[in-house]
Amino acid sequence: MQAIDITRTAAPKQKPVDQNQLGFGVYYTDHMFLMNYDAGEGWHNPRIVPYAPISLEPAAMCFHYGQEVFEGMKAYCGTDGKIRLFRPEQNLARLNLSNDRLCIPLIDEAFALEAIKALVRTDADWIPTLDGTSLYIRPFIFATEPHVGVHPARSLLFCIILSPVGAYYPEGLDPVKIYVETQYVRSVRGGMGFTKAGGNYAASLKAQDEATKQGFSQVLWLDGIERKYIEEVGTMNVFFVVGDEVITPSLQGSILGGITRKSCIELLKSWGLRVAERQFSVDELLAASKNGTLKEAFGSGTAAVISPIGQLKCGDEVITVGGGKIGALSQRLYDTLTGIQWGKTEDTFGWTIVVE
Ligand code: COI
Repeated sequence: MQAIDITRTAAPKQKPVDQNQLGFGVYYTDHMFLMNYDAGEGWHNPRIVPYAPISLEPAAMCFHYGQEVFEGMKAYCGTDGKIRLFRPEQNLARLNLSNDRLCIPLIDEAFALEAIKALVRTDADWIPTLDGTSLYIRPFIFATEPHVGVHPARSLLFCIILSPVGAYYPEGLDPVKIYVETQYVRSVRGGMGFTKAGGNYAASLKAQDEATKQGFSQVLWLDGIERKYIEEVGTMNVFFVVGDEVITPSLQGSILGGITRKSCIELLKSWGLRVAERQFSVDELLAASKNGTLKEAFGSGTAAVISPIGQLKCGDEVITVGGGKIGALSQRLYDTLTGIQWGKTEDTFGWTIVVE
């Protein structure tokens, strides 16, 4: 394994004083990880350096053709003082899935995990300790080769930055209002909707902007072909509790395979609940709301953890879910996941890794 060179900052930054006011993605720690890729040389020169702007040529291909992928994960400071990562190997496997789809050279997942641990150790004093806070880890890879021409880049940069964060949504665990998007689509099968590519998020901005103007927190995307099956929220996967079944859209190439989604499914099944990964249409959702079988709806994601959905607007119809309150299952999933992440609940699944 290559050695990671560490250059410590001579000017550590002032840390945010009030951990209640961290917000999400506002503050960045003192250091970042960098590693270059060059054709013929492969991935090389792994290093931890002071967090600073990156200098790129205006012709760098990431600016023109969007060859960029990222990941999102967190380090948690446990109640026992230990630093834990949650299923990081899953994020790194997904990073390579995204890399493959965007013709980005694959990374060595075991090495990338060591890089994350080394960076987290270097900036360990930035990990917030207040309940509900964590250190968000953002690995990303982008094309740096200067060339105005469309082809897989021959030079790229792998970067990891860290950000102490609170809740992703200002609502916290309070139910969010979601707008079902019927005009724009995020992705279609065969596209890159299953990857964590920046372009997928750029494609979501227009609809998000319009939803925000109408007072909704997020957009719920429908499939791009029939415009009737529920896909994901863009920042989260979604679950619906209908009768005694928990339904989540199946992964068919246009939806991100969330690690929190996967963990929720595994938890729900371990509690003896029936989970169906299948196509779920808006018509079925509206019918379940009308006949009283729709009990809960919630989103799942690394940033958001579990976000109960209190209201959904689809065309002219507005439905309230679970009386607009936090559902029992949403609360149980949130408590269990965060309990495992903060070392308060026994990790019987072996999902966490302690950073020593
Ligand atoms: C995450 O949940 O980690 C994400 O990358 C979503 C992003 C919008 C913050």
